Amino acid sequence: MKYGHFDDANREYVITNPRTPYPWINYLGNEDFFSLTSNTGGGYTFYKDAKFRRLTRYRYNNVPVDDGGKYFYIKDEDTIWSPGWKPVKTELDSYECRHGMSYTNFKSSKNGLEAEVLQFIPLGFWGEIQKISLKNTSSKAKTIKLFSFIEFALWNAEDDMTNFQRNFNTGEVEVEDSVIYHKTEFKERRNHYAFYSVNEAINGFDTDRESFIGLYNGFDAPDAVTEGTSKNSIAHGWSPIASHYIEIELQPNEEKDFVFMLGYIEVDEDNKWESKSVINKKPAKEMIAKFDTVEKVDTAFNDLKRYWDNLLGKINIQSGDDKLDRMVNIWNQYQCMVTFNMSRSASFFESGIGRGMGFRDSNQDLIGFVHQIPERARERIFDIASTQFEDGSCYHQYQPLTKKGNAILGGDFNDDPLWLILSTTEYIKETGDFSLLDELVPFDNDISRAKPHFDHLKASFYHVVNNLGPHKLPLIGRADWNDCLNLNCFSNDPNESFQTTGNKKGKTAESLMIAGLFVVYGKEFIKLCKTIGKTDEAKKAQTHVDNMIEAVKEYGWDGDWYLRAYDYYGKKVGSNENEEGKIFIESQGWCSIAEIGLEDGMVKKSLDSVKTHLDCEFGIVLNSPAFTKYYEEYGEISTYPAGYKENGGIFCHNNPWIMIAETIIGRGDQAFDYYSKITPSYLEEISELHKVEPYVYCQMIAGKEAFKPGEAKNSWLSGTASWNFYAITQYILGVKPDYNGLSINPCIPSHWEGFKFTREFRGATYNITVKNPNKVSKGIKEIIVNGEKIDSNIIPILSKNKEHVITVIMS
Ligand code: GLC
Ligand code: GLC
Repeated sequence: MKYGHFDDANREYVITNPRTPYPWINYLGNEDFFSLTSNTGGGYTFYKDAKFRRLTRYRYNNVPVDDGGKYFYIKDEDTIWSPGWKPVKTELDSYECRHGMSYTNFKSSKNGLEAEVLQFIPLGFWGEIQKISLKNTSSKAKTIKLFSFIEFALWNAEDDMTNFQRNFNTGEVEVEDSVIYHKTEFKERRNHYAFYSVNEAINGFDTDRESFIGLYNGFDAPDAVTEGTSKNSIAHGWSPIASHYIEIELQPNEEKDFVFMLGYIEVDEDNKWESKSVINKKPAKEMIAKFDTVEKVDTAFNDLKRYWDNLLGKINIQSGDDKLDRMVNIWNQYQCMVTFNMSRSASFFESGIGRGMGFRDSNQDLIGFVHQIPERARERIFDIASTQFEDGSCYHQYQPLTKKGNAILGGDFNDDPLWLILSTTEYIKETGDFSLLDELVPFDNDISRAKPHFDHLKASFYHVVNNLGPHKLPLIGRADWNDCLNLNCFSNDPNESFQTTGNKKGKTAESLMIAGLFVVYGKEFIKLCKTIGKTDEAKKAQTHVDNMIEAVKEYGWDGDWYLRAYDYYGKKVGSNENEEGKIFIESQGWCSIAEIGLEDGMVKKSLDSVKTHLDCEFGIVLNSPAFTKYYEEYGEISTYPAGYKENGGIFCHNNPWIMIAETIIGRGDQAFDYYSKITPSYLEEISELHKVEPYVYCQMIAGKEAFKPGEAKNSWLSGTASWNFYAITQYILGVKPDYNGLSINPCIPSHWEGFKFTREFRGATYNITVKNPNKVSKGIKEIIVNGEKIDSNIIPILSKNKEHVITVIMS
């Protein structure tokens, strides 16, 4: 069952039934200021950091789900309704929620009144605009009462929902003209406040939640709205809100527009006050003036559209398959930008108070957006690298506001450092900018310990070399990408974290996932060294990579697949000898991509085993059979019920590793089959089961051993976005930036006749047409560049600001 449809021309998903199987959300904002918005108006806003600078309140895991947000109430005679359906839930005559590229537009109608609410954050602006248009489509004049509503958070989102003994006393507001100012804690240690305005004289307002709603009511039936007038309440403590009340006369066919703005202001310490206890409103008024007319709003909205035209214009495909085109051209790229902005902090599954920027996550996310925003990617790489230590280890996370490593969580996730080689080499291949290697980048954020960025890569490489176990395989540390494979944890205390507890700090537990990863990014490190003339460095590194390959062949092969690990006791994990967890996806992916034993058929065997043991209708599960009891020596992985999350769930992030591996051995049909199984546009028809948005990837789909296979959770913020984009564009469609050009090596379903791929690369436009006359999956007969045949698979760097015509014939 579907709850809407794609509108590709407008790059929108159009939800036409508000009762989606879960809230289907969108993100507004592209730089510092962000909002989450559900298809019924739920969500919240923050500045830079969802934990420390939360503007509006949101209650996660609420009953009913997704109650609370930015709402409009329309009272038209005795009917009260909301353009987003919630919170009032009056049946609407029509409802449409269009989620677009960082905007959301509601369009609904009831009893001859049409309402449209466009929400977006203008570029470079610290405020969200809501443009609401009301149109009388009936034949008689109407008097409408419009109420706006937001609820302020007291800035620190975690404190806001826990420290009530204090917080119920601190709330402070001011109201002047049509603007409601939220100034809690402004007088002491905060130099920032928020405001909510409208470009129209108001008939009333409320700033105290209980006065507006009534202590025993819900958001669906606020007293003020039911009674048809606001209370002009001023909040003193308790819960400050902002609600405007406007009476509107509309003749038949008449339409009126209003511009609401939720803004955020920072002032200098010595410029905080207008007069005693009265905040300096000048900067707020300047912000409001920027968008006090519909024309100004429309101009900013068009700028935003152009911004996205530009970002999405860099890669564009025509494959003949709409579901594929809309993912590659629109939604997958969009999701990659959202993960750039949010990392894993704020979604409807991540509460915004839990996690900062992950070291491994942010490096991997980068491969999905580096072609869109290379300059910001460069900055991101330095932010990440600055949280590394001289020995190559690093903090697992850092907080975006401070950019400092998170000391509570610490480090020792031994895969972490290697991902820096991935992000850095991908950045250079995309841009040709080798200069970042020479930039001085601090260790542990200490500028006096800065070294050229290249040294960070070297430290990453040698961190593995210097941390090998008894089988000469990499020690796993706390976890190795799989956050739940905690082989040194040994926890029996439910109050301990699996990630930060190491009750047995051993030097025995080893990871085959890191081994494969090391061979892949070790080779990348060597290739980079050779490219920049560091041949000695390359030679030295080669020995370590060769040794690792040998170690995997000798100790890491189980006969039909790669082992997953050795546990603390030196016992095999992910072996046919095990009762449960006989085979795992991660080591099959990475050791195959590393081509370890390719010549001996190991890669093919491994991937055949994936197909036999891990593949199912909804994707590839992480391990099989799933664990059905707690294994103290394995940690969190064995805590999840079978078929969920890291225990036999389809953890979508790692499925692309298998797709990539399949392309290495030329099986395009299989690679694409795996791709379409987890790609949301192909799952739209089963939305009822899938539950989460059909336009973005989710982290996890319940696996074959789960109670409800196919049911998905944790949409939006997942490495799934970047890895799938990377797999489809660079390995299946096979257009891959390299240091000296654009390499072409598609591996596609054999029935495809070809496809078109347009790509901006190093300032030029490559218009690539791939033809597949002989219906093969892989193999190139010839490549013609601007009329001339070239004798390599790498299209050289072509002249800038020009369109180039490239024809690729497969055979
Ligand atoms: C989550 C984490 C990521 C981890 C993965 C597997 O997606 O953000 O860091 O690698 O889970 O456990
Ligand atoms: C990762 C994993 C999750 C685990 C969490 C621990 O995000 O995906 O399963 O519980 O880390 O913090």
